[in-house]
Amino acid sequence: MSATPERKGRLSPGDIRARKGIEPVVCLTAYTTPMAQLVDAHCDVALVGDSVGMVLHGLPSTLGVTMEMMILHGKAVARGSSRACIVVDMPFGSYEEGPEQAFRNAARLMAETGCQAVKLEGGRHMAETVAFLVARGIPVMGHVGLTPQSVNTLGGYKVQGRSHHEADRILVDAGTLADAGAFAVVLEKLPTVLGRRITQEIAVPTIGIGAGVDCDGQVLVIDDMLGLFSEFRPKFVKRYAELGASAEAGIAAYADEVRARAFPGPEHVFGEGNPE
Ligand code: KIV
Repeated sequence: MSATPERKGRLSPGDIRARKGIEPVVCLTAYTTPMAQLVDAHCDVALVGDSVGMVLHGLPSTLGVTMEMMILHGKAVARGSSRACIVVDMPFGSYEEGPEQAFRNAARLMAETGCQAVKLEGGRHMAETVAFLVARGIPVMGHVGLTPQSVNTLGGYKVQGRSHHEADRILVDAGTLADAGAFAVVLEKLPTVLGRRITQEIAVPTIGIGAGVDCDGQVLVIDDMLGLFSEFRPKFVKRYAELGASAEAGIAAYADEVRARAFPGPEHVFGEGNPE
């Protein structure tokens, strides 16, 4: 069991921001009430990521995720959480047009889910939008490096920032978001050396996913780290459980017992007139 620090009340984006250089930020995604309850007991941030589209809805990318999906899952996570800072992803197409569109949709996410902050993808071209939201009461987590909503312009889910030029660009992106008021910045799929450099140079916590151990915090997609997908094994994911294999064995045993008329057994049935 982790030595989860004692906490009173819910962590705010400001509390997460204040962790810089003091204590690692522990973050996992959550999409449902039962998973949110588990995450809430151990993590500082519960991220309702738009990865929900691929993980729970079988979409081929995050591009088809809608505001309605994020609101549905955001509400479910809020019902299962009382301590973690809940961050909800802004889906593709809900913020890129400009600050006003972003405010309208971010305000809706905050009001309808009860989350504490939103996350959006993109570097310096999002800085104006981040500043606009923050000035109007909406805490924002940034996300640079591999930004899955840009899979079509990036040409796949490759490691980013391998060349000096690209690394410098991503560093400037992260710093610009921090300067615009983001309370933390996700760094996805970067060489460890670049994750370290950005962490040293920007003023707010970096939350790494495939960006090395030097980031100020870490995030993983919960279904990946619990081994719910047997075939999906990215290098940056450590599996802390094998729930997929265990679920498969349980389902196969149930199917065998139903076919053999071995389930339900006497202990699972009700006799006439017996109390339940
Ligand atoms: O959607 C998501 O789950 C994310 C994390 C991988 C950072 O953005």
